Amino acid sequence: GLMRELKGIDVMELELKHRLGIKGVIIVPGDSDESPLVKGELGKASAACMKKLLTGENIIAVTGGSTMAAIAERLTPELTRKNLLFVPARGGVGEDVANQANTICSNMAKNTDSKHRVFYVPDQVSSEIYQSLIKEPEIHEVLKLIKSASMVLHGIGDAITMAERRKTTPKIQQKLETGNAVGEAFGYYFNEEGEIVHKVLTIGLQREDLAGIPNIIAVAGGSSKAKAIKAYLKQAPAATILITDEGAAKRLLKG
Ligand code: F6P
Repeated sequence: GLMRELKGIDVMELELKHRLGIKGVIIVPGDSDESPLVKGELGKASAACMKKLLTGENIIAVTGGSTMAAIAERLTPELTRKNLLFVPARGGVGEDVANQANTICSNMAKNTDSKHRVFYVPDQVSSEIYQSLIKEPEIHEVLKLIKSASMVLHGIGDAITMAERRKTTPKIQQKLETGNAVGEAFGYYFNEEGEIVHKVLTIGLQREDLAGIPNIIAVAGGSSKAKAIKAYLKQAPAATILITDEGAAKRLLKG
């Protein structure tokens, strides 16, 4: 019955939290790989978690992807008794518009009756462009906001899936294969030990910045993402809260 299932999920949450060594785990029923409705549930659970953690003034840095887009759909003005500002965590122009952090932040702001900033920076830049872009006053200002975020909301993806989605060059794909990359988050590709195999050069939040951010919420579901989630969380900040689904959780607990 329902109670037993609920209890099962409670037990899984505690066990996973313990195994992964992070601040918290929230599991929603189902498997995002099998039903698109489950992503909506991830969105709903994320909104509830955000509501609990937000206090007073908040700058929320958000990454791209379809999971983040699903969270935006589930945010409501109920969150806005707080003062919220959504900012893209990293440059992401180049991804599908619906999956870009700029679009997602704008939807999040619209649905919560709050503010957002845009960050029109390509998802991958050369180091020359990087050096000149960070000198632009407007970019500099958004960067300052990102670094003072009180919350980060981010996705985690399967390395190969992400490399393909980003139309990564054959040379980099080769590097990812040789380095056994399995997971991706924030433009960093990780192997099973959580070591960085490759980093996409872009402007915005860098992995080191996470240490200074009190609330970190990672949202990723689907059994196909289990390996990626495990890899990323191997060396992720202990302050991370993982919001996932049963499909991924079951596979994580098996491994
Ligand atoms: O490209 C942004 C990003 O957040 C990646 O870091 C992550 O791997 C991916 O999107 C997740 O996308 P989705 O939620 O669509 O699986």
